[in-house]
Amino acid sequence: MLILSIESSCDETSVAVTENGRRILSNEISSQTELHAAYGGVVPELASRSHIQAVTPLADRALESAGISKSDIDAVAVTCAPGLIGALLVGVSFAKAAAFALGVPLIPVHHIRGHVAASYLAYPQLEPPFVSLVASGGSTLILDVRGYTDYRVIGSTRDDAAGECFDKAARVLGLGYPGGAALDALARDGDPFKYKLPRSKVEGNAFDMSFSGLKTAVVNLAHSAAQRGDKLDLPSLAASLCAAVSDALVFRAMEAAVRSGYGKLAVAGGVAANSMIRSNLKSETERAGIAFYPAPLELCGDNAAMIGSQGYYEYLAGNTADAALNACATLSPEAACR
Ligand code: KG4
Repeated sequence: MLILSIESSCDETSVAVTENGRRILSNEISSQTELHAAYGGVVPELASRSHIQAVTPLADRALESAGISKSDIDAVAVTCAPGLIGALLVGVSFAKAAAFALGVPLIPVHHIRGHVAASYLAYPQLEPPFVSLVASGGSTLILDVRGYTDYRVIGSTRDDAAGECFDKAARVLGLGYPGGAALDALARDGDPFKYKLPRSKVEGNAFDMSFSGLKTAVVNLAHSAAQRGDKLDLPSLAASLCAAVSDALVFRAMEAAVRSGYGKLAVAGGVAANSMIRSNLKSETERAGIAFYPAPLELCGDNAAMIGSQGYYEYLAGNTADAALNACATLSPEAACR
């Protein structure tokens, strides 16, 4: 089954063609990073306008690089939640029109379920049940993936997402936007023990996380250094921040994976590209005898191939939509999109 898929939930427009949820035929991505960099964050109105300009040419390119024509498409999948509402609506409207014109089913896909599915594209042997850590710019979640379309949230951030913490810290340190990758690169030459940054614990669910205190600690450190005229050791601060985020994520994800008894841990989302987090997860899973399925680097960030993969399994579960499909800014991954 060939699925044309569309992703437009934030600042990447992407259109892909995938086969049976497991093989990528094309995955065209147009990033708006430069557009938003001047503002230090995503400007929703500009994001929507940019998606509108990008989506149709990207769809043409996706078909061309897949070597197929429109009549070969069996279904159209689209991210319908969560994300910026105006941005989501661009993809949803395009997908509705495409599905109607081609006379094929329309499949709504939850963005976080899509991130999880990035690992299906890289590991043919990976099947639910497993535990998945999804850490991106908008969400940080530990999930019990009981079935392809059966999700339970084990833990989530109570405030900022891990990526948001990286991005705010990078901004105050003058590293541009989004700054996760820049901090990662700097951290390679730094001492992760030099700056004592907080590791937060929250009341209640031990798998829940908090990153706002960590973000504020870095902001305060930067401001007081500037006031005193002190020079920060940026590589060591970046390494200390990566270590603090890694400690929060790796400890909880490992605990969840061990307790589940599934023996499998996947990780995905933009923050899953972080080298310290990846290598800590790799060594911890090896130590515990748990199979590790990190999303490949090129599929960690937002892309439509992961939406096509999850779309295939939503289709098999009968989760299709009609022309009344709407977009949702917030929605738990436990709920199927409608
Ligand atoms: O998954 P994604 O592309 O978008 C969302 O769905 O939010 O994730 C983007 C986030 C940004 O916060 C970015 O700074 C972060 O992922 N990121 C990283 C790295 N690469 C991207 N964070 C830490 N280390 C990286 N190497």
